[in-house]
Amino acid sequence: MNLKIFSPFLLSFAIVVFATACSKSDDLWLMKQNCIGCHNLVPVCVSLGTKNAKDWKITIESMKRAGAKIQNPDIDKIADFLSRQKPDSADFCK
Ligand code: HEC
Repeated sequence: MNLKIFSPFLLSFAIVVFATACSKSDDLWLMKQNCIGCHNLVPVCVSLGTKNAKDWKITIESMKRAGAKIQNPDIDKIADFLSRQKPDSADFCK
C-alpha cells in the first residue's frame, strides 16, 4: 500500500469521524442546556421513540410558550436530535 497517497484519505476520514462525534455531543449539550430546569429529563425520556422531529418541534415550541428561553435555530436541532434517540439506548436517560 502506498501510504503517501492513502494518508490524505485516512486523515479526511478521521476528521469526518471526529466532527460527527463532536456535533453529536453538541446536540446533547444543547438539549440539556435548554430542557433541564423546569423539569428533569423524565418527561423527555418517556417520550423518546414516540415522536418524530415534527412532533418534537411542536413539543419544544409549547415549552417555549411555557417560558423556555430557546433560540429558534436550536428548536430544529433539538427536535432532530431527540427524534433520533432510542428509549432504551439514550445515555442521558440512564
Ligand atoms: C419554562 C420551563 C420549561 C422548559 C425550559 C422546558 N419545559 Fe418541558 N414542560 C414544562 C411544563 C410546565 C410541562 C408540563 C405541562 C405540559 O405538558 O405542557 C412540561 C412537560 C414536558 C413534556 C411532557 C408533556 C408533553 O408535551 O409531551 C415533555 C416531553 C417536555 N416537557 C419536553 C421538554 C423539552 C424537550 C424541553 C427542551 C427543549 C423542555 N421540555 C423544556 C416546562 C418546561
